[in-house]
Amino acid sequence: MSILKIARMGHPVLGSPADLVRDPESDMIRRLVADMIDTMADAGGVGLAAPQVYAPVRLVIFHVPSARDADERYEDAGLAGEDDEAPLTVLINPAFEPQGEDTLGAWEGCLSLPGMTGFVPRYRSIRYWGIGLSGEKIERRVTGFHARVVQHELDHLNGMLFPMRMTDLGRLGFSEEMRRYHIDAED
Ligand code: NI
Repeated sequence: MSILKIARMGHPVLGSPADLVRDPESDMIRRLVADMIDTMADAGGVGLAAPQVYAPVRLVIFHVPSARDADERYEDAGLAGEDDEAPLTVLINPAFEPQGEDTLGAWEGCLSLPGMTGFVPRYRSIRYWGIGLSGEKIERRVTGFHARVVQHELDHLNGMLFPMRMTDLGRLGFSEEMRRYHIDAED
């Protein structure tokens, strides 16, 4: 296992749709997932999509800590209430659909935009599904931060980064400045 380099915004690998994984149980996918888990842990992220480590395939990993842990460890992630936790999840060839039209704005960051934070609207509730590492089908209905993380990671598989989802680019900036001048003042 090893820690992989993370692509930053502007690299073409982050800007185009990723390919379906043909064989979810292959050794290649297993190795990629193991390296992605190490890389995410090292970087301190809550999620990582394969294109972020230069592998243009439809695979994401994420975990959703409990709200209390999350507040302490990911203070700029903009946590609202009603958060569903998730254990470390590997999702291959995933998809989601919104459950209703309700959206919720919150602060997000991304390992491909180091040091930056923006206020992003996302669906409040979604149903998502995909294939796990042992070939099993995973399907969940989730809300809040869990739903946000999944929408953020799946966007990476379609060449989308969080600023492309923002409706007010005045709320995009360097995390230090946003924390100082925006986040506490607004929320
Ligand atoms: Ni990201």
